[in-house]
Amino acid sequence: MSSVEIPAGLKELLQGYTVEVLRREPPDLVEFAVQHFTRILEGQKKNRGAKKRSTRPARKGVTFDTVSNKPSKVDDDEEEEEDTIKSTTSKYNRRVSVCAEAYNPDDDEDDDAELRIVYPKTDVQRRRLQDACRDILLFKTLEQEQFSEVLDGMFEVLVKPQEHIIDQGADGDNFYVIEKGVYDILVQKGGVSVCVGKYDNKGSFGELALMYNTPRAATIIATQEGALWGLDRATFHRLIVRNNAKKRRTYEAFIECVPLLKSLELSERMKIVDVVGARVFKDGERLITQGEEADCFYVVESGEVKIMITSQAKAGQQDEVEVARCSRGQYFGELALVTNKPRAASVYAVGETKCLVIDIQAFERLLGPCMDIMKRNISQYEEQRVALMGSSVD
Ligand code: CMP
Repeated sequence: MSSVEIPAGLKELLQGYTVEVLRREPPDLVEFAVQHFTRILEGQKKNRGAKKRSTRPARKGVTFDTVSNKPSKVDDDEEEEEDTIKSTTSKYNRRVSVCAEAYNPDDDEDDDAELRIVYPKTDVQRRRLQDACRDILLFKTLEQEQFSEVLDGMFEVLVKPQEHIIDQGADGDNFYVIEKGVYDILVQKGGVSVCVGKYDNKGSFGELALMYNTPRAATIIATQEGALWGLDRATFHRLIVRNNAKKRRTYEAFIECVPLLKSLELSERMKIVDVVGARVFKDGERLITQGEEADCFYVVESGEVKIMITSQAKAGQQDEVEVARCSRGQYFGELALVTNKPRAASVYAVGETKCLVIDIQAFERLLGPCMDIMKRNISQYEEQRVALMGSSVD
């Protein structure tokens, strides 16, 4: 019997193509295959030919250093001294052509050879930036070193009232983290621009076009003076998109087992993995406070949480009563997001607990198909509450 030898790399090539098809759902598989493999071929030629690539121009008025990030160099400070190029500009680093390159995290393996942009910051600026980035979910699964590189690569953007930061349909240039300001989110529906939400002094936006090489999915307008921190497309790819590939390997199996998400397509579940953040809570730590405004949704990955409701006891003093617990695979924090009301209960970690966290915008965008299941489960909450707390509940 003759044996057939499978060429090295065939499996990876086909797997890469399959993953891309699942992610991007192209209408024509053959045409998509031609584009996909052409891109890989071009990437290989480019990598063979060029050791160093130039960076895009940055926003005017910002001074930046470009630092070669050759792996052979050990000391970053030395690199900065050798390769620093000073430049000043003041407009966003907009891309000029429609982007045809598809998302493929594996293409990023050679990105270490790319130039690394470092925007010098004062101590005060760096502290403000760190505060703004503290709760950004996309950064939550980065290693410390990658996170520092992200901070290095961010540049300050001051915005005026009515300024369009992003226009729906445009090419993706930067990802933005909000330091301050209120920003409306508008989406075209049936030819009309509809305000679907807003960012209020926190959060981030502009990741979708960069992650999936799609046109901007929404328009973002500042309603007042504000301050943002931008991260250019190339750096976002090198640090965040590559990390997402790792994140998918880590969380895909878990997400597949979450009962709530079973009704979603595989590609929809992958999009959830791309935007989740992971957070670890200590025993007794409060994750959610009753009465506060809601901005995210949680799925327990390990450990347990208890849900407590504060009741006005007959004697007038307040009591917290446990109404439920959630463990691996279960979710909580959806009620306030679905009803648009303040948090109806407080939630505490029982032992060390790890949760996946999804922000309100991603929740609304990605979990629509699960809404029926959530609403069905929500209707049980009232019965549970009355059964446990009787008529003393407010
Ligand atoms: P991007 O498509 O790159 O640019 C517009 C951004 O708006 C998008 O990424 C998201 O970060 C953000 N956004 C917030 N809400 C929505 C929504 N409902 N649909 C699409 N994009 C949204």
